[in-house]
Amino acid sequence: MQSQRMVPFKIIRMDSLGQGVSKESDKITFIPKTLPGDAGEARIVAERKGVSFAKMQSLKEASPLRIDPVCPHFESCPSCHYLHTPYEQELIFKKENLDFLFKKIPHPDIQVTPAIRRTGYRNRVQLHYDLPGKKLGMLDAKDHSIAPIPKCLIGREAIADKIKDFYFNSTWERLASGQPPQGHVELYEQNNEVKVTWNAPYSEGGFTQVFEEMNLVLKSKLENWLASLPAFELLDLFAGNGNLSDKLNHSKRLCVDMYAKSPGFGFFSQDLYDEKAFFKVRQKMQEMQLKPSVIVLDPPRSGLKNLEQFLEESRPKHVVYVSCDPHTMVRDISTLGRYRVVELHLIDFFPSTFHFETMAFLERI
Ligand SMILES: C[S@@+](CC[C@H](N)C(=O)[O-])C[C@H]1O[C@@H](n2cnc3c(N)ncnc32)[C@H](O)[C@@H]1O
Repeated sequence: MQSQRMVPFKIIRMDSLGQGVSKESDKITFIPKTLPGDAGEARIVAERKGVSFAKMQSLKEASPLRIDPVCPHFESCPSCHYLHTPYEQELIFKKENLDFLFKKIPHPDIQVTPAIRRTGYRNRVQLHYDLPGKKLGMLDAKDHSIAPIPKCLIGREAIADKIKDFYFNSTWERLASGQPPQGHVELYEQNNEVKVTWNAPYSEGGFTQVFEEMNLVLKSKLENWLASLPAFELLDLFAGNGNLSDKLNHSKRLCVDMYAKSPGFGFFSQDLYDEKAFFKVRQKMQEMQLKPSVIVLDPPRSGLKNLEQFLEESRPKHVVYVSCDPHTMVRDISTLGRYRVVELHLIDFFPSTFHFETMAFLERI
């Protein structure tokens, strides 16, 4: 049963998950879809020691940072966090968040690269469904509810059209018949076609960055940073298809990832979170006689806790750490005594949401 406990709120700042933070009641309260300066009443949806999570019920005082969201689903959908404020303000929140996380690591000013558009960019969208409940939409991880989003703006045009088709022609219920009663469906663009998989692992067709144009922007910054070096040996960890390093000036390269199919030469399939991973990668490097002077890594949200072990093996002069979770990135970089951050980039791969890509260039001291 839904909690009915109501609390007054006044938002004093944003947190790193794009939620407004209020200290008006007995506990610190986190409220999505609010902004600093907003005040009103919120309904508590969950509580833990010292903190509570709430949903805004009424707005008595509106933040001067507020605008009308372009998406009709913004209030009910859990996926976008910042469409109620201008994009420039969204970037300010993101930069403040990254600055705060990096406060203990010496670094030059963060260079922010805005997205080239705020909506219509994702080449991959995952929806959840509930056949008996006749619901399809975005899953709210907090209460497991599904918010219908027939006019979602986040996907590229072909994906947005497919989503509309799913709802307005009710094709999703027909397509999902024969599937388990609850599950997920993924829509992704491949070779100018929208492909649909039901209940397959995320990114079944192989991981690709979701915002293609911003991926090119990130890669060009990376290429520029290393452009003056003569051809170098390179290790690319969590490499996927080699996206980040394929255009770099390498004389020899090893890409490591968990490949579903047997990868070709220069690609090595290894679970990098396995306790023997470091030794397996080292053995592979020895077989190839690879001595990387550049290491690129782009882990999933969990980061790479034993990064230092990988770096101390070959002591590369240059390291590029790309991450979609700055918390784990900061945790990993903090362990490195022999490297300093020489450039720090916030590249907005995920506009409208609290997520962004961080790229740190590190040099051996
Ligand atoms: C953020 S993606 C980066 C991929 C690639 N660098 C790119 O730009 O397309 C993270 C990659 O980590 C890989 N990965 C996830 N868990 C892994 C694990 N335990 N061991 C090795 N690779 C893993 C995924 O397959 C995915 O390709």
